[in-house]
Amino acid sequence: MEDHIQFDPATTTLFLLDQRSLPLLEETFACRTVEDVVFALQTMVVRGAPAIGVTAAYGCCIALRQALAAGAYWTNELERLLGILEQARPTAVNLSWAITVMRSIWTASMDPTTLGTAWLNKAQQIQTQDIAMCKAMGRHGGQLLDDGDTVMTHCNAGALATAGYGTALGVIRGAVDAGKHIRVIANETRPFLQGARLTAYELHKDGIAVTVACDNACSYLMSQGLVHKVVVGADRIVANGDVANKIGTSGVAILARHYGIPFYVAAPSSTFDLKISDGSQIPIENRTPREVTHIGATQITPHDVPVFNFAFDITDHSLITALITEHGVLYPPFTSSIADMIGQRTCP
Ligand code: MRU
Repeated sequence: MEDHIQFDPATTTLFLLDQRSLPLLEETFACRTVEDVVFALQTMVVRGAPAIGVTAAYGCCIALRQALAAGAYWTNELERLLGILEQARPTAVNLSWAITVMRSIWTASMDPTTLGTAWLNKAQQIQTQDIAMCKAMGRHGGQLLDDGDTVMTHCNAGALATAGYGTALGVIRGAVDAGKHIRVIANETRPFLQGARLTAYELHKDGIAVTVACDNACSYLMSQGLVHKVVVGADRIVANGDVANKIGTSGVAILARHYGIPFYVAAPSSTFDLKISDGSQIPIENRTPREVTHIGATQITPHDVPVFNFAFDITDHSLITALITEHGVLYPPFTSSIADMIGQRTCP
């Protein structure tokens, strides 16, 4: 699945498979303005760290066309629009990473046409390179899985969360492509249900055996020997190896340690933030209570009872067996393995 993010340069329109409607409906959401892109990001029409980065890159192309309406002041307007885009979601570093990459090729002497061509090329490069990085993670990480393994994953770190193939699901696809028989347990991932809706949807479509489990079944499933490995994605990995990922990930990691199950995190170099030394400094998105208080249109909590809806948590680096990147597999101590493998390289 590599066609869920499509950009039409002729009309400067971004077409997104609307992930809010999956798995039952495959609908397209069209973004023609920066406000549309921000809406799509915030309401999770598109979500998952690398997919957020690709969307932001095309969002810059849309921002440029929109800014030209400001005439002579187009550069000021463009800065304002990029600022709005950058604030859409706080935790996945791929958003600011993509905008930084786009900004870095914008020089003061560029006319809008030259900039437009340069940005379109760069956004397309970010998209195609993301797929290549996922496939490389699949090749490296697939070797860590054994024929017959059942792998637990949390949230959706698949094709839908990237430009295609996936990070955690890319590792699973890499093992399957190498001829191994792999079964997947997809934690349902309350409250947005990325596991039940999206991970199950894309694996089932690919013919990879997947079973959905309630988040609170994790300990029991592990205690019964039903989970051989855990592989998850990441929204941000910092210098000491601490990982921000979907709320509930750190609980899965703690349980995996308790039951002696390897816990792997798969992420491209665009998800690493080496400006931050440890996970306590990562901003955690706090989303609308409605995602917790309601399932669809049905309210499931009493009126006026407050809820928590932190969208991410931090998994301590000490709980992580290895980090799987497009450059290879990193082992503890992560401070040095990350600096050696990621610190020296930039992408794309
Ligand atoms: O809130 P979401 O759905 O954007 O959260 C997504 C995740 O937590 C994913 O695991 C992460 O972005 C990795 S995606 C390859």
